[in-house]
Amino acid sequence: MKTLIKNGTVVTASDIYRGDILIEDEKVSAIGTSLALEADRTIEASDKYVLPGGIDVHTHLDMPFGGSTSADDFESGTIAAAHGGTTSIVDFAIQYKGQTLRQGWEAWMKKAEGKAAIDYGFHLIITDLPEKLEPEMDAMVREGVTSFKLFMAYRGVLMLDDGSIFRALLKAGENGGTICMHAENGDVIDVLVRRALAKGNTAPKYHALTRPPRAEAEATHRAICLAEIARVPIYIVHLSAAEALEKVAEARDRGLPAYAETCPQYLFLSYANYEEPGFDGAKYVMSPPLREKGNEEKLWRGLAGNDLQAVSTDHCPFCMKEQKELGRTDFSKIPNGAPGIETRMHLMHDGGVRTGRISLNRFVELTSTSPAKIFGLFPKKGTIAPGSDADVVVFDPEKKHTLSAKTHHMKVDYNPYEGREVTGAVETVLSRGKVIIENGKFTGKAGSGQFLKRKPRT
Ligand code: URP
Ligand code: ZN
Ligand code: ZN
Repeated sequence: MKTLIKNGTVVTASDIYRGDILIEDEKVSAIGTSLALEADRTIEASDKYVLPGGIDVHTHLDMPFGGSTSADDFESGTIAAAHGGTTSIVDFAIQYKGQTLRQGWEAWMKKAEGKAAIDYGFHLIITDLPEKLEPEMDAMVREGVTSFKLFMAYRGVLMLDDGSIFRALLKAGENGGTICMHAENGDVIDVLVRRALAKGNTAPKYHALTRPPRAEAEATHRAICLAEIARVPIYIVHLSAAEALEKVAEARDRGLPAYAETCPQYLFLSYANYEEPGFDGAKYVMSPPLREKGNEEKLWRGLAGNDLQAVSTDHCPFCMKEQKELGRTDFSKIPNGAPGIETRMHLMHDGGVRTGRISLNRFVELTSTSPAKIFGLFPKKGTIAPGSDADVVVFDPEKKHTLSAKTHHMKVDYNPYEGREVTGAVETVLSRGKVIIENGKFTGKAGSGQFLKRKPRT
């Protein structure tokens, strides 16, 4: 099967040119300025961008959390991702206390099998690391699960102590794995939460007020110090606060391999959202929380200047009805997380590229190329080049549309960006050469996504 994408503006992390792309079966086979070749199918892309498919390295599909399970499973979540121009995800499998690491990974492989409509890999959340389990980290890396998320918060549920974190870092130093850190000081937060509740402060906004930016900055600094002692890279997930970014920037200025991602919610929303009427602030209960206005400008500068290397979503949707509602009288019972798998590329183009905060190349780099490089997927994923997987997005940079729960494909009853008009729309999406989105309709197949066996760091 040959597909020719003609006359588009091809954008990669480094280049912008008008060209044609020939796809044979699952791979890009040729790129030229005017390919006079026969194809089974031709996609006309004049006046459109032709982008590498988005890679979202932080999603939580079908994840039990806070007494509920995230509303998108691997079918609805990956279809929504495709609508938003994302063709690969790296989701989080969880090893629960008492389980082996393999048991955690295998449980999530079962959740994805037969359901995922785009390619998927897994990080493994380690919640329990007795010394006897350390060699299993090597086995996971050999299986292509080459990154591990550790939590410095949620004591008794997900949190690991500093000693276990340090041993995991040392192990990753040996096997080429990457440690991803949820950096918030959980014990300090737990004290603040108990005190807020004792005073009767139960509204959603107290979720944010009990998770101060300094608690994120302290944990970020601690994580970087532990990685420095272990002499390994560290990747800070969902960085939200300018104070935490300062810690990453300081480390990078000293030449340390410290990396971090932020998410659209920290760029486009703020603490003010928690003050929305009634219980609506619950829509934004996520950890770390939204920050005061002003933080976002520093994050944008971090993205432009490479102190932040990726934009992922932390897509962890819970419906207001029956899920967020669990915390109506106690903010600490609101399941943490918000939807975003479908809106990332549109928001970053509209609010990043069109406003001049980041270049078009940097947009591609942050949403596809750099995550692919950091997490062992490049150059199979993350670029348009001969031999790469034909994960391609044809994007109309001038088309306007409105983000809304009425039209989105995520299985959640609200959209954090409800009513926001964005310019730029995903038109056609190819996943390994197959058209899976055409004129806004999903034409792919649940179950056609493949497990991504990722490479370790070299
Ligand atoms: O609130 C959030 N971020 N929920 C998902 C779990 C996590 O910490 O990433
Ligand atoms: Zn986290
Ligand atoms: Zn997350």
